[in-house]
Amino acid sequence: MFNVSRDFDLNSEHEGIVIGLFDKPVKFEGPLEKLDEAFEGHLTELIKSGDLSAKAKAVNKVHSFGKIGAKRIWVLGLGKPKDLTFDLLKESLGALFKTLKKSRQEEAAFLLDSFVGQEELDADAAAHALSEAFALATYEFEGYKQKSNEPVKQLEQITVYSTSGEADALQASLTVGYAYGAGTNSARMLVNLPGNMLTSTDLAEYAKELSERYGFESEILDKEEIEKLGMGAFLAVNQGSKEPPKMIVLKYQGKEQWEDVIGLVGKGITFDTGGYSIKTKTGIVGMKTDMGGAAAVLGAMEIIGELKPEQNVVAVIPSTDNMISGGAFKPDDVITSMSGKTIEVLNTDAEGRLVLADAVTYAKQHGANYLVDVATLTGGVITALGLHTTGAMTNNETLFEQVLEASAEAGEPIWQLPIFERDKERVRGSKIADLNNSPGSEGHAVMGGAFIGEFAEETPWVHLDIAGTATSSKEYNLGPSGATGVMARTLAIFVECFEPFEK
Ligand code: BES
Ligand code: MN
Ligand code: ZN
Repeated sequence: MFNVSRDFDLNSEHEGIVIGLFDKPVKFEGPLEKLDEAFEGHLTELIKSGDLSAKAKAVNKVHSFGKIGAKRIWVLGLGKPKDLTFDLLKESLGALFKTLKKSRQEEAAFLLDSFVGQEELDADAAAHALSEAFALATYEFEGYKQKSNEPVKQLEQITVYSTSGEADALQASLTVGYAYGAGTNSARMLVNLPGNMLTSTDLAEYAKELSERYGFESEILDKEEIEKLGMGAFLAVNQGSKEPPKMIVLKYQGKEQWEDVIGLVGKGITFDTGGYSIKTKTGIVGMKTDMGGAAAVLGAMEIIGELKPEQNVVAVIPSTDNMISGGAFKPDDVITSMSGKTIEVLNTDAEGRLVLADAVTYAKQHGANYLVDVATLTGGVITALGLHTTGAMTNNETLFEQVLEASAEAGEPIWQLPIFERDKERVRGSKIADLNNSPGSEGHAVMGGAFIGEFAEETPWVHLDIAGTATSSKEYNLGPSGATGVMARTLAIFVECFEPFEK
């Protein structure tokens, strides 16, 4: 898919060549100079006259009129060098790849030198941005429409010309960027699947295949085993369903010893009706995405499988749908979690924290010393932070800092919400049980986090509420509308860069 080459020849045939254009006095060097010469300086003229926009994310097309081997030149605006961040570079490349896709281009060559305008973003970073943006921006959910037999042309061949940087290192950066993009796309695909197309059994099957592909150890608990282990909170949510629950466990061992284990826990509700605390007819639409946390964890595991960091990870995914029937759990029910803590159910729609309670306990049993859970947990986080920021809660600032850094590098913003003692008191406020699962409408997001925190106990833990960020109603530069695959990259980067610490 990606080809790295040192020597750019004006006569080499391409459907298109892509150059980056910074918003600064234009001085073409190296291959770009050659290119401009071939056009007798007209390219520089077009830029100077403002006919080609150098604004970040601006995609300009120039025909080559047979002056060079390539049919057309794509000029991608990158803005001012000092303003160009890794994220903005990816976004700009995303805009370009979307245009290439719409134009049915099958091949393109990049003059990578033209994308390097400052030290922090060198050729390697540009290569990483390029391949990640390519994967993310061209992703599409196939869907179920009847198709015509005509094959759709797709961008399949990308040549990267670069005079700076080692070819091997560039190739490695391209591979890494692509792995991040592909893992994110797998997460998106899972989230986009309708509830009838992705049951907990299907999700378990998918995880099993993933573990075979990458040599992870896997354990898929069926209903009977889940019962034996006493996962009463998880089972309560599944009680009204015809679909059996699955507790999915994947282990990746990148260290000699099974120590400093990171537990990644993902909410895997394949459809959330709300149960007897039923959702409204508009609120229920879209609840196939309630396994977005599970998808992020599996996407991250795919990236981890590709990049093989020296870390130990156990992924735990409790999966079921939340349905209604004569056997379903009800408000006022009291259930006993695997930890032994009893829970008064005040709202069957607060099901995510129930399945996560047992998953967190189980992750600890598998040796997790650090925990990060990801979940489409509350509508409250949308009220608090909107649709572009993931809510984070923690019992350990050191761990949170590490997750925060990873999220910044991934370009997936998170923001911390507090859990104070008084918040804990509210989830502990039941007359007849240790906890209640829904202490009232104030601070939903915090209550969800505080509840899960009761099961993390002393283990350093970060909770990520992605209810607002797991999907996007609008198309954007690095993806289509629908599932975003959010947190797959953050989790993978977090694992790669993780440093154990004294608690
Ligand atoms: N799956 C929902 C949260 C959600 C809402 C995800 C919107 C994506 C978009 C979750 O299970 C839920 O129903 N949460 C309730 C909690 C409440 C009953 C305490 C909520 O936020 O309203
Ligand atoms: Mn719910
Ligand atoms: Zn839910």
